[in-house]
Amino acid sequence: MRYLITGTAGFIGFHLAKRLLDEGNFVVGFDGMTPYYDVALKEKRHAILARSNGFKPFVGMLEDKAALDKAAELADPDVIVHLAAQAGVRYSLENPRSYVDSNITGSFNIIELARALKPKHLLLASTSSVYGANEKMPFAESDKADEQMTIYAATKKSMELMAHSYAHLFDIPTTAFRFFTVYGPWGRPDMALFKFVDAVRHDRPIEIYGEGRMSRDFTYIDDLVEGIVRLIGVVPSEENRVASDTVVDTLSRNAPFRVVNIGGGTSVELMHFVEIIEATLGKPAIRKMLPMQPGDVHRTFADPGLLVALTGFKPQIPVEEGVRRFVEWYQENY
Ligand SMILES: NC(=O)c1ccc[n+]([C@@H]2O[C@H](COP(=O)([O-])OP(=O)(O)OC[C@H]3O[C@@H](n4cnc5c(N)ncnc54)[C@H](O)[C@@H]3O)[C@@H](O)[C@H]2O)c1
Repeated sequence: MRYLITGTAGFIGFHLAKRLLDEGNFVVGFDGMTPYYDVALKEKRHAILARSNGFKPFVGMLEDKAALDKAAELADPDVIVHLAAQAGVRYSLENPRSYVDSNITGSFNIIELARALKPKHLLLASTSSVYGANEKMPFAESDKADEQMTIYAATKKSMELMAHSYAHLFDIPTTAFRFFTVYGPWGRPDMALFKFVDAVRHDRPIEIYGEGRMSRDFTYIDDLVEGIVRLIGVVPSEENRVASDTVVDTLSRNAPFRVVNIGGGTSVELMHFVEIIEATLGKPAIRKMLPMQPGDVHRTFADPGLLVALTGFKPQIPVEEGVRRFVEWYQENY
């Protein structure tokens, strides 16, 4: 198949593109190489993908419609997977405009592109952050999610809403996935696992927010990619509407549009996560306890029921094993 994937120099886009290339697909990877974190890491990821003949990298910004059109022409895609975004919860307090530019204007350009190209399936990366501070656990896609706590989350929810309207108006089959704290080799330097491992290795204190009273549903990258790949094949339509007593399908009544969580359904306490890192590195962390940061939520916890009903797959890798694989990669590369 022919794919247009945005964000291929990023953590998740790199892994997804690698998997699809290894399976013999053709991938045009569109990425702006933004300086939000180490651009050298992004370039290394693209260099690895470029070893495959089926990969065509394209450096450009989502906001640049002409650049996107050129990439689209090269790709002529059956499927579009939109992963490029300004990510990160905390940075959205510092630089909110970059979120509006990348995630609203940029995502609008992608759905406009889909209107012109009519792909078999458009898939978009949203986030567990759209659930805000919901207290009902675990988070199910059918739960109300209208009280976002950061502009990051608000821009992602806006993307979901825009995409629904286009799916309805122009009959574009669309799946928006909500990812839950993804981690693993080639992971992001701005995320907790990378920062903690790096700090412990260099005898620096690790900053633990919310006095450690937080928990996250961590998803190992290979599990996430498996979930994405399976969902690519589940093009939203009435034929695959889930009818079940325990799972509420979010397939829209008015459009070929569905929201799906990709998360494992276990919420790990932050202090336990720190202990796993210490055990893996064989070295204690210096803990610096800090208050809750504005915009942070106490807990994320995915209900994977819809993912399982649609694909038969549920994330498998325990966090101990995932951290071990991350540390192995970190030690080889840093
Ligand atoms: N990693 C997670 O835990 C997580 C959780 C929930 C949702 N997500 C979402 O998944 C997607 C991928 O996340 P990731 O962890 O791989 O992030 P990442 O930052 O590693 O990758 C995003 C890529 O998008 C590119 N990019 C950013 N703005 C751009 C723009 N305006 N134009 C062109 N390229 C641009 C960046 O250069 C980067 O390579 C994002 O949409 C993110 O919001 C990630």
